[in-house]
Amino acid sequence: MTDNELIELAKTALKNSYSPYSRFKVGAALLCQDGSVFLGCNIENASFGAANCAERTAFFKAISGGKKQFSKIAVVGTGSGEITEFTPPCGICRQVMAEFCDDDFEVVLTDGKTIESFKLSDLLPCSFTKFNIK
Ligand code: THU
Repeated sequence: MTDNELIELAKTALKNSYSPYSRFKVGAALLCQDGSVFLGCNIENASFGAANCAERTAFFKAISGGKKQFSKIAVVGTGSGEITEFTPPCGICRQVMAEFCDDDFEVVLTDGKTIESFKLSDLLPCSFTKFNIK
């Protein structure tokens, strides 16, 4: 699965975004090491703190479906309907990724013109993980 193909799947996921409060739609497509892909969108709530990001929606779907090994995730977002900026994962999503992914897990982003791939270890250096709890 190419980065471009995964971005296209994230754009499909974005269409299901439930974001009446921020009006910022986010879609994610998570590629598992077995080749399967799980889609996620952001899901907001009138109680704002109950919102769930697109990335975590995709992860929780995959993990609850029995997947444990992941290769990369593509994330797209827009407040206007057009993708013009990168949508980097928030800190909570990076922490969830660190729980389930190796340092070489990749986060694929686009600003609508270019596609860039970031290693999780660069996005969340010196992370606190299960290895710190013995
Ligand atoms: N959001 C995501 O879904 N993923 C991100 O990486 C950044 C933020 C969502 C949360 C909220 O529904 C909206 O975008 C505005 O913050």
